[in-house]
Amino acid sequence: MPEINEKKTDDFILVGTEKFVPMLSEDKLQKRIKELGKQISEDYKSKLPIFIGVLNGSFMFLADLMKNVDIHCEMDFFKLSSYGDAKISTGNVKLLKELNADISERHIIVVEDIVDSGLSITYIKKILDQFNPASIRYASLLVKPRSLKYDVKIDYIGFEINDEFVIGYGLDYAQKYRNLRSIYVLSE
Ligand code: IMP
Ligand code: MG
Repeated sequence: MPEINEKKTDDFILVGTEKFVPMLSEDKLQKRIKELGKQISEDYKSKLPIFIGVLNGSFMFLADLMKNVDIHCEMDFFKLSSYGDAKISTGNVKLLKELNADISERHIIVVEDIVDSGLSITYIKKILDQFNPASIRYASLLVKPRSLKYDVKIDYIGFEINDEFVIGYGLDYAQKYRNLRSIYVLSE
């Protein structure tokens, strides 16, 4: 039972007084992810890349992305926390789970759900650089270019979106709504 007043229809999700409306359909997400998988398969032909997913948000994107990669690849996870349950970043990142894989001399593809300020990616880059990987590239399903505060380059971008709060397909609001098959945006 949800603690707050919630209403879900095909057209919107109402969480208390906040209304979320559809932004990216399941079909649109899957089409784009297929393209990204194909691109990565070509770029890493004859290499053995290791995908490093940033938990929790990236788990669904990483799963679908890997299903569309047709070369050998490996995976591991990082777990970061910066948001707590709020919609705006607290500005400090905590490492909650370290990597288990040995990544020295490896070709790494960091997989994020969404890049907002770029703080998380900047923090991750600093950690990964210490292990001397052969290469590091970044993939993010969503990027908010207008929110970027750090100088980061995302090599594989699903969609660029406005500076708006989104949920679904791995992305949460107070830990919920990750299980939605498409992405919804908070309407003003
Ligand atoms: P950054 O460190 O500011 O780039 O924020 C990245 C992290 O913040 C993402 O991995 C998400 O977990 C979270 N985040 C940023 N924007 C949103 C959003 O619109 N909805 C849900 N989570 C978000
Ligand atoms: Mg995240």
